[in-house]
Amino acid sequence: MMRAVILINAYSGPEHSLYQSGRLKEELEKRGVAADIRRNNFFAASLGDGGEVLSRLSGYDFCIYLDKDKYISRLLEKTGMRLFNPHAAVEACDDKMTTAICLSDAGIPMPKTLPGLLCYDPSERITDETLDSVAAELGFPLIVKTSYGSLGKGVAKAEDREELRTLAEQVKCMPHLFQRCISSSYGRDIRVIVIGGKYVAAMERRSLHDFRSNLEMGGVGSPFEAPEEVRAMCEKAARLLRLDYCGVDVLFGERGYYLCEVNSNAFFRGFEEVTGVNVARLYTEHILSVMEERS
Ligand SMILES: Nc1ncnc2c1ncn2[C@@H]1O[C@H](COP(=O)(O)OP(=O)(O)O)[C@@H](O)[C@H]1O
Ligand SMILES: [Mg+2]
Repeated sequence: MMRAVILINAYSGPEHSLYQSGRLKEELEKRGVAADIRRNNFFAASLGDGGEVLSRLSGYDFCIYLDKDKYISRLLEKTGMRLFNPHAAVEACDDKMTTAICLSDAGIPMPKTLPGLLCYDPSERITDETLDSVAAELGFPLIVKTSYGSLGKGVAKAEDREELRTLAEQVKCMPHLFQRCISSSYGRDIRVIVIGGKYVAAMERRSLHDFRSNLEMGGVGSPFEAPEEVRAMCEKAARLLRLDYCGVDVLFGERGYYLCEVNSNAFFRGFEEVTGVNVARLYTEHILSVMEERS
C-alpha cells in the first residue's frame, strides 16, 4: 500500500489549510493510499555534523507539501522524496517578483512592473528621483505590492504621488514591486486552477467595495468559462514553473488578459463551492499518475 504524508504549517495557520489537507487525505484514502496529516514542526529534515542531510520522514512514498517553508522542502527533496508541489516551484511562486521574472520573455502578458529597490536602513528617505521614475513609468493610479503578500493584504493602490510616497516608504525595507494598475479589472479578476499543466476550471471574483477581488477581502466568486486565451496562458505559466497544482490570478485588461500572480498553495475550498469541481479528487488523481510513472 502506498503511503503519503501531508505536511501543513508548523503553527496554527488558516482554517483553510486544515480543510485542504483533510480533503486530500479523504480522496487519497478513497484510492487506497494511506495518508497522514502532520504539522511541519518535527524537523522533518535537517543537517548532521558531517553536513549530511538527515530525514525524519521514512516510510512515505510521497509528500503533499501544503507548507511554504523552503528550508525543509529543499532538504526533503535532497533525500529523494517527491514533493507536490516541488520545492523550486513553491519558492518561485512565493515571491511575486520572482514569479514574474520566471515567466518573462515567454509571451505571457503581465502588467508593466518595476522591481522595488530594497532599502537596508529604515531611516533612509526614498528620493524624489525614484518616485518620479515610478510615476513616469506607470502613471496613476498604480499598484504597490509586497513580494510575499497573500490574501490581498500586501497589495495597495496609490492614486497620486503623495500616496505613492507613503506606500513606498512602508515597503522599502521588504521585497516589493510597483505595477501598472489595470483599471478595467477594478474589483474583478479570474481565478484559474491548473493541475498537471492542464486547465481545470475557473471562477470570476468580484468585489463591490475594493479594487482587490480576493475572497478574503470580500470578493464573491461565480463560475466562469475561461476563454482559450486565458486557459493557454495559465497552462503555460504552470508548466514553466513546473507546478503540479496552482491557482492563477488573471486580470481583465483593456484589450486582453494579464497574468497577475501564480499561487502554488491556492486554497480550493471556496473554489470547489463556487464551481462544483472536486479539486481534491483531480489533484489526487494527478499525483497518483505521477507516482505510477515513477515506479
Ligand atoms: N496590477 C493590478 N491592477 C489591478 N488590480 C490588481 C493588480 N494587481 C493586483 N490587483 C488586484 O489585487 C488582488 C490581489 O493581488 P495579488 O497580486 O493576486 O496578491 P495576493 O497574493 O494578495 O492575492 C488581485 O486579485 C486583483 O484583484
Ligand atoms: Mg492573488
